[in-house]
Amino acid sequence: MNRILEYLERIHPEPHPLLVELERHGHADHIPILSRETGRFLATLVHAMQANRILEIGTAYGYSTLWMALAQPPAGKIWTIDTDRARTEIARSYFERAGEADSIEILNQSALEVLQNFPQRNLDIVFIDADKTEYRAYLDLAIPTLKRSGLVVVDNCLWSGRVAEPERTEDSDDTRALRAFNEYFLAHPDLSATILPLGDGTGVGARIR
Ligand SMILES: C[S@@+](CC[C@H](N)C(=O)[O-])C[C@H]1O[C@@H](n2cnc3c(N)ncnc32)[C@H](O)[C@@H]1O
Repeated sequence: MNRILEYLERIHPEPHPLLVELERHGHADHIPILSRETGRFLATLVHAMQANRILEIGTAYGYSTLWMALAQPPAGKIWTIDTDRARTEIARSYFERAGEADSIEILNQSALEVLQNFPQRNLDIVFIDADKTEYRAYLDLAIPTLKRSGLVVVDNCLWSGRVAEPERTEDSDDTRALRAFNEYFLAHPDLSATILPLGDGTGVGARIR
């Protein structure tokens, strides 16, 4: 960790103990979870918007879900999608221990399948963090579910910096897809969007039409 990140880590309050436990659990099991700073950012967005209707694409052990759930108003609701039942059972155990299980609905289906039939509208936030090659399709299906001024937040836009390297034939499908996604996202006519160098690159787009 560089000095600036170390300094920021030192001056922020420690997260909820279950989030700290989840970080250790995720890292021990090599689960790709959000960076702590991106989790804090999500929580601040949820607080600022009083976001009580959130869709998450990519649950894993529920680390990002729990950051958002703990920041929601009492009537808050999160729908979170992941095909991996073993992971989401672990997530569910943390939601129960945090007293948040009633406000979180886990959907164990492919993200595209859920999004194609998702009945909810007027969402405050859609958070994208699943299959990188499907990000563009998630975005296209997610925008109509958002309220005007709602946010789409996207993890891994910078992909450990690989998207900024010159293109090479050996680039992975994920790297190629994220490069194309970033340009599509930033130019999207329905969004006012930016990508922050926070965590692994955090895209934030507000629905403007
Ligand atoms: C990066 S992890 C999510 C991490 C989580 N957001 C966090 O920060 O704690 C991505 C998850 O997306 C799930 N996933 C990948 N492709 C998917 C798809 N097409 N549909 C649903 N879930 C998918 C994987 O099973 C994995 O658990």
